[in-house]
Parts: sequence; structure tokens; C-alpha cells
Amino acid sequence: MNRPLVIGNWKMNLDFVEAVHLTQQISVLLKNQPSAHTDVVVAPPFVDLRSVASVLEAERSNVALAAQHVNPHEAGAHTGEVSQAMLARLGVTWVLVGHSERRTHYAMDDAVVAATLSTVVRSGANAVLCVGEDESARDDGEYASVVSAQLASALAGLEEKSRALVTVAYEPIWAIGTGRSAAPEQIHEMATVLRRELTALGCGEARVLYGGSVTGENAAAILVEGGVDGFLVGGASLKSDSFVAIIRACDDCYAGLANRR
Ligand code: 13P
Repeated sequence: MNRPLVIGNWKMNLDFVEAVHLTQQISVLLKNQPSAHTDVVVAPPFVDLRSVASVLEAERSNVALAAQHVNPHEAGAHTGEVSQAMLARLGVTWVLVGHSERRTHYAMDDAVVAATLSTVVRSGANAVLCVGEDESARDDGEYASVVSAQLASALAGLEEKSRALVTVAYEPIWAIGTGRSAAPEQIHEMATVLRRELTALGCGEARVLYGGSVTGENAAAILVEGGVDGFLVGGASLKSDSFVAIIRACDDCYAGLANRR
């Protein structure tokens, strides 16, 4: 098992004052009881990044900063968008790429996902490539082929030296924000497919995360039985207690598995 990674995707929630409060609460909880084995990242809205970065720096926190999206172009006439260089200046070291909400609601197709992924890793930042099928693909038994196609189209053109910067998040759309997490067996099946495809694409070392209605209660079972390396968390990342509970579950599982080896 790889070292676990837990990423909190705050989506379009929390203004900068609320974001500062949450960051302080997370920092205090992790200072009181540091996470020994788990890497932690938060992905606030763009307008909160500067404030959250300041809190993390002041608290000397190990929590890293992610953006939820970036435009693949360098600069210019892209009203409403933000560039990778702008994010780097703010201390952002992770970027979510191709979240299903961007693919579905903001016309992010596979070509734009691939261009964005390439922009992020060429800059030296870590990219979290989000993949996942919708409910009808799940019902039709097409889920593995849908997700494999998303993976291949995003990774095929990637330079070899950038591949170590890729993490993959499997987020079935039907499990996002529904309170209906995928079952550990379903996650295990997809994690196996993803790892096989990643190896074939030269990214065999990439961490594979799961996202979709993850909570402090189901995290341990998904991590162990689902065979993933951590989580991309939405709703449960908006409260410090529930977010840190997921981090603790990863820490405990990793320590337990390490002891058994
Ligand atoms: P929920 O944890 O709210 O289901 O959201 C998952 C997600 O989309 C994270 O990117």
C-alpha cells in the first residue's frame, strides 16, 4: 500500500473568512495529534487560496494546498479563468483535473482534460486526475471501459518525467454527494482496473484515490477492502472533525497494515 493521501475538495463552499476558520481548526487538530502516515491536502475555491496559504504558513502546517481547476493556457483572453503560473505564485502544489462537475457542467471534454493535466505536471505541480462513470454506465456494465477511456485519453501523451506527479481519483458520479458510497468490492474492482491501466500507460506508481460520499465511518473499510491509497472528500471535508476523522482512519489503517507486514 502506498502512503495514504486525503484531499478535501471544498467545491464552491466557504468564503475566505469561513475558509480561514476551517483551516485553523484543521491545523490545530493535526498539531495536537499529527498524522504520522497520511499526506493531507485542501482544495479551497480560488478566492480563498491566498488566505488559506497564509494560515497554513503561520501554523507551520504540513497540509498542502490544491486548486480545484486551472486553465491550460498560459495567459491571455480567458475571462474568468486562472493560470497555472498564478496558482504556483500562491504556493499551490496540487491541482484537481477533470472533476466530473467540470466535465458535466462546464464542458470540459477529454481533450481539455488532457491539455490541463499536461499543463499542471509540466509546471512541476501534482495533478489529481478525476475519472468516474455515471449511473447509466454503471447499470449497463460499461463502467470499466468508460473509466479506462478517460484515463488513456488523459495520460497517453504525457512526458515520462512528469508521470510521477499524477494521482488518480476514482469518483463514480452516482456516489458524489448522494450519501451512497460505492461498495468496497466495487471500489476494489475499479482500483484493480485502474492500476492495470496505469501500469500499461507508464504510471504504475500513481496513487489511486476514491471519492464519493466518504465519511469518517466508511473510510477505514473502503481503504482496506477497496484497496485504494486514500480519498478525495467533498461534503465531509467542510467540517474539521469529519475531515480529520477520515485522516485518522487512514493513519490507523496504514499503521495496522504496516505492523502486519
Ligand atoms: P462527496 O464527498 O460530497 O460525495 O464529494 C465527492 C467529490 O466530488 C470530491 O471531489
